[in-house]
Amino acid sequence: MIKSASIIGEIKSSSLKLKNKKDLVLLRSKYLGKKSLLASAMADLAQLKGAQRAKLGRELNSLKESIEAVLASAQTRLEDLENQTQYQPFDISSPGKSLSSESRVGHLHPVSLVLKETYQIFTELGFAIVDSPEIESDWFNFEALNMPATHPAREMQDTFYIKNSNQKFLPRTHTSGMQVRFMLENKPPFKIIVPGKVFRSENEDATHSWSFNQVEGLVVGKGVSMANLKGALLQIVKRQLGKETEIRFRPSYFPYTEPSVELDAKYNGKWLELGGAGMVHPDVLKKGGIDTEQYSGFAFGWGVERIAVIKYNIDDLRQLWRPKIEFLEQF
Ligand code: DAH
Repeated sequence: MIKSASIIGEIKSSSLKLKNKKDLVLLRSKYLGKKSLLASAMADLAQLKGAQRAKLGRELNSLKESIEAVLASAQTRLEDLENQTQYQPFDISSPGKSLSSESRVGHLHPVSLVLKETYQIFTELGFAIVDSPEIESDWFNFEALNMPATHPAREMQDTFYIKNSNQKFLPRTHTSGMQVRFMLENKPPFKIIVPGKVFRSENEDATHSWSFNQVEGLVVGKGVSMANLKGALLQIVKRQLGKETEIRFRPSYFPYTEPSVELDAKYNGKWLELGGAGMVHPDVLKKGGIDTEQYSGFAFGWGVERIAVIKYNIDDLRQLWRPKIEFLEQF
């Protein structure tokens, strides 16, 4: 007579005490080896006959399976234990590998460097930095800035439109779309810059790209004049490009400013075009709910990549967005 239940209980408790694989081998041979109780019971089986033999046979087989299951789970436990001891705990606060060719330290992209400096300059001058949506309504991007559907000035910027049920949207073609949006929600006086990525229909070349970053400036208050615009831009440009930098205005046209100018900066002896500016058109102020009898304002906008190209003496701004580490590492 073999007592399966007590044998299983016994091997289970022994299996929990195993420390290593050697112990496991010993346990296996004790319960399944040639001299085991099971082996001798199997041998006795040969002397039995008929139903008795079949019954004991079934019992012994099931006992064997149970023993094997206990041994298998003990083996898994021991393997887990072994794996754990292979991983030495390590101090995550200890210093990293010393600098070598495989461990390069990251750095800011030239455009991020210019943006960081831009935020610094404008906050020092009392401007607030305002975020705006990359998908803008046709109304804020164009209509509110005196560019109705058929206005030719749209053609320089129009990209694809996104049709919503009753309103057209588009990837903003310039950050100027934030002007009226901001006026409607804020009372003057205010001084803001709106940095952001813009998307436009553009024939790419060394100085133009279909997508780039802009910084829009908007100042609205009492008695704000063209002289204020020039003074402010001179200060800003000197801070960004160096004290010796000069600026000049060239007459220009934007539907949302009157008068409108093109801003150039003299850098390293050369006049370079920076962006557009002007006095905010009274119709634009009115669309923003601003009383034009009391308030006036100026606005400007330029490309961040263009500043980066000037500052870092880059000959083609398309290089800025090519994933060439050797190029970007120079800044
Ligand atoms: N929105 C113009 C552009 O993307 C730049 C610009 C010109 C912004 C004149 C202004 C401005 O605020 O007054 O080319």
